[in-house]
Amino acid sequence: MTTMRAIVQDRYGAPDQVLQLREVDIPTPAPDEVLVRVRAASVNPDVWHAISGYPRLIRLMGAGFRKQKQPIPGLDMAGEVTAVGRDVTDFRPGDAVFGETHDEIQWVNGGAYAEYVCVPQHVLSRKPVNITFEQAASVPTSGIIALVNLRKHLWKQPGQRIVINGAAGGVGSIAIQLAKANGAYVIGVDHTSKLDYMRSLGADKVLDYTQENVTKLEQDVDLIVDVASTLSLSDCKRTLKPDGLIVIIGHDHYGTRGRRTLGGIPYFLGLMLWARFDRHLPWPSFETMEKRDAMNILRDMLEAGTLTPIVAKTFPLSQVPAAIQCLQEGRTCGRIVIVP
Ligand SMILES: NC(=O)c1ccc[n+]([C@@H]2O[C@H](COP(=O)([O-])OP(=O)(O)OC[C@H]3O[C@@H](n4cnc5c(N)ncnc54)[C@H](OP(=O)(O)O)[C@@H]3O)[C@@H](O)[C@H]2O)c1
Repeated sequence: MTTMRAIVQDRYGAPDQVLQLREVDIPTPAPDEVLVRVRAASVNPDVWHAISGYPRLIRLMGAGFRKQKQPIPGLDMAGEVTAVGRDVTDFRPGDAVFGETHDEIQWVNGGAYAEYVCVPQHVLSRKPVNITFEQAASVPTSGIIALVNLRKHLWKQPGQRIVINGAAGGVGSIAIQLAKANGAYVIGVDHTSKLDYMRSLGADKVLDYTQENVTKLEQDVDLIVDVASTLSLSDCKRTLKPDGLIVIIGHDHYGTRGRRTLGGIPYFLGLMLWARFDRHLPWPSFETMEKRDAMNILRDMLEAGTLTPIVAKTFPLSQVPAAIQCLQEGRTCGRIVIVP
């Protein structure tokens, strides 16, 4: 067999207008790559950005100027290794793996919405045996983002009071569990329909963003993690302790905020500059975490049962546009997953 089914885009645009299911050649792994038979791939907001090409700045950040250099979208997945490049030492055919499919920023297409994808060995981790492929595929991008943003600010000892805003989405679901694994007291904020879900992940207190304003209700908070990026900095300050911190993760909300060229990037750069004068903003750091290191931490938590991945819904490969539409409409708890 030399061909496979894949979702392909020839230009940037709305997912329902530019994505097509096609028969294409199965890729050949480079010397340091493995060929993975994709068993499940996840849908997250960055996939929408990569397909639509918004904010336009992403086209200059490695994605491709006129169209995505990699025509097949999808970034994180779980599957089985079926072939390895000549320099691969970490995996063999038959190994079950999970991870992102490249080592670049999340706005670059990764080729995961296909039956097969080539992945550099150094970004992958072994899939824990105690979770399904669908569950494993729901973890990498959201988990890496949650880990990178939280790990420096979580206390080693219990008692830290943390607000997570947007706590029932893909990133928030993992953030709650990371915080609870470190003994924190977690206040989860999300939609009315998701309150029980947040409790089931371990949140000690839950708030409904449609009815309540967390910054008016809570005091003495050590850390606010604003995944939804809907809280104002000045409002957060009345909730935080004098040395409390706010970490902002979310950005553009599918272009609905009108910032289609630069997106939230100027805002984030402004926050980094402002952090020099504001004790509530973390000191800017360009220190990153290797994807493999993050994946191995997540794998250890999955194996230990301290992290449970939640699959909100699954869609077949032919329905990727519907899956992305479902993500944009909200109201799902956890991560939407594609099953080729
Ligand atoms: N996913 C990633 O891996 C990743 C990577 C980098 C950056 N980011 C950014 O992080 C943000 C969140 O990503 P995600 O994957 O967690 O998205 P998600 O799965 O869509 O979750 C976002 C959550 O925030 C909730 N929400 C919406 N408005 C809110 C408000 N006013 N107050 C509190 N909660 C609200 C949503 O609920 P509703 O059902 O009401 O909409 C949803 O549960 C996005 O901006 C994304 O671009 C994500």
